[in-house]
Amino acid sequence: MIEPVLANDFDRLFEIEQQAHLVPWSKGTLLNNQGERYLNLKLSQPGQIVAFAICQSVLDEATLFNIAVAPAFQGKGYGKRLLKALIEQLKTQGVQTLWLEVRESNHTAQRLYLSLGFNEVTQRKNYYPTTDGGRENAVVMALYL
Ligand SMILES: CC(C)(COP(=O)(O)OP(=O)(O)OC[C@H]1O[C@@H](n2cnc3c(N)ncnc32)[C@H](O)[C@@H]1OP(=O)(O)O)[C@@H](O)C(=O)NCCC(=O)NCCS
Repeated sequence: MIEPVLANDFDRLFEIEQQAHLVPWSKGTLLNNQGERYLNLKLSQPGQIVAFAICQSVLDEATLFNIAVAPAFQGKGYGKRLLKALIEQLKTQGVQTLWLEVRESNHTAQRLYLSLGFNEVTQRKNYYPTTDGGRENAVVMALYL
C-alpha cells in the first residue's frame, strides 16, 4: 500500500534511513524534509513501512531528495513501485520535470532511474562524502513528465 508519509512515521523512516544509506541523513534533516511543498510517500507491507520517498516541488519542477527501501525488502520491486506512484502523483499536480542526484557508484539506483526514463544531465564533481573520508561525484538525472 502506498500512502502519504505522516508526522508519526518518522521514527520508522529514520530506522530505514540508517539501514539503507552509506551516509544516512540525521533525524533532524529527515524531519526538516516535510511540509507544504513536499510530496512524501511510504510503501507499507502488512504491519510495517518498508520504503519511503521524499520529494519537494517548486512551481513545475520537483526534486527527489531521498528514496530508500529497507535492506531486507530491496530488489523485490518496491522501489520501482514507489517511484512510479510518485511520478503519477507529480503528473497530476502539473509538475513537468523531476530531478535527482545519485552517487556515481550507486549503479542499482541508476538502473532504476534509467528504467523509468530518467536521463543523465550532468555530474557534480566530489559532491558526496564517502565513508573513507574521501569524496564522490554525483550524477544529476532528470525525467521530463
Ligand atoms: C535504490 C533502491 C531505492 C531501489 O529499490 P529496490 O526496491 O531495491 O529496487 P527494485 O526491486 O524496485 O528494482 C528496480 C530496478 O533497480 C535495479 N536493481 C534492483 N536491485 C538490483 C540489484 N541488486 N542489482 C542491480 N540492479 C538492481 C533493476 O534495474 C530494477 O529494475 P528491474 O527489476 O525492472 O530490472 C533501493 O535498493 C535502496 O533503498 N537502496 C539504498 C538507498 C539508495 O541507494 N537510495 C537511492 C539513492 S538516493
